[in-house]
Amino acid sequence: MENIEALREEVLAEVEKAGDLAALEDIRISALGKKGRITGLMKNLGKMDPDQRREFGQALNALKDQVASAIDMRKGDLENAALEARLSGERIDVTLPSRPSETEGRIHPISQTIDEIISIFGEMGFTLAEGPDIEDDFHNFTALNIPAEHPAREMQDTFYLPEAEDGSRLVLRTHTSPVQVRTMQSQTPPIRIVAPGRTYRSDSDMTHTPMFHQLEGLVIDEKTHMGHLKGCLLEFVKTYFELDDVPVRYRPSFFPFTEPSAEMDIGCSRKGGELKIGAGDDWLEILGCGMVHPRVLAACGLDPEKYQGFAFGIGIERLAMLKYGIPDLRTFFDTDLRWLKHYGFVPLDVPNMVRG
Ligand code: DAH
Repeated sequence: MENIEALREEVLAEVEKAGDLAALEDIRISALGKKGRITGLMKNLGKMDPDQRREFGQALNALKDQVASAIDMRKGDLENAALEARLSGERIDVTLPSRPSETEGRIHPISQTIDEIISIFGEMGFTLAEGPDIEDDFHNFTALNIPAEHPAREMQDTFYLPEAEDGSRLVLRTHTSPVQVRTMQSQTPPIRIVAPGRTYRSDSDMTHTPMFHQLEGLVIDEKTHMGHLKGCLLEFVKTYFELDDVPVRYRPSFFPFTEPSAEMDIGCSRKGGELKIGAGDDWLEILGCGMVHPRVLAACGLDPEKYQGFAFGIGIERLAMLKYGIPDLRTFFDTDLRWLKHYGFVPLDVPNMVRG
């Protein structure tokens, strides 16, 4: 009996001290396992007389139960402690700022530039419009006052799709201007939209790629004039190039869908072979614009006596090259990962008017 008492104290003390689950398991095996200390005492029962055996047997069974439940309790405590330790080790402080520079992916400069331009015009009250890349003749040309046989059709090096049975041919849109037509057909003025997107021309050299991007702008209302156009575009270039002031000039130009038509230049300097936007005695052409031609309004179902407005078309690659110092247009579409790592933007750096 003293053996049992001594063993009880010994084993319970060990259990209490077990520092982890593995140590606890060792103790369990050394007490209750096949060759364990308690199991060892069980083996003596056979040599005892019946009374002694009953008494000793009961005491041993009680010890076994006591040790087993002590081990269970200790095991529960150790498991809880281990879970606590893991949870606090894996804890994430969701209030910390993210570290976007560590992410692998990059946003293409074209996407970034489009987002920036949209955000600037969005702030001025423009909404976003879209149209299909594959257009019909009416939307890409006729409604824009470019009738069949008009030389402007040749100007644009159009990609034609195979002829349909009725002889008509769809085209890859040569500019984003057809979105003007779709918008005027589907909305009633006042209209203020910008429409970015892919455009296509059969042209490929240092400064032309067969696919490129434009952004179309359109404002239609009852009292819109050239002053609105100038104010709006001046505000745009100042914000886009992050300059307090930019000299601009409008040169008379020709587009079939606007009258009058103009090209807008911004002031720059090319001293020492380095292009700087904003100051200097040189000019850089950045967009085409004008007052929407009355024939275009009429073709889109709007009354030219009641409505007028302005439109503009911007080449997105050019704007991206100017702002981010990308020297070669063709590299935009080489899908070269090293190029993208260099010129691309971190995904969480979403441009907006507050953060720039
Ligand atoms: N669609 C013209 C082009 O691709 C660009 C353009 C010029 C759009 C003047 C306009 C505009 O809306 O008013 O060359």
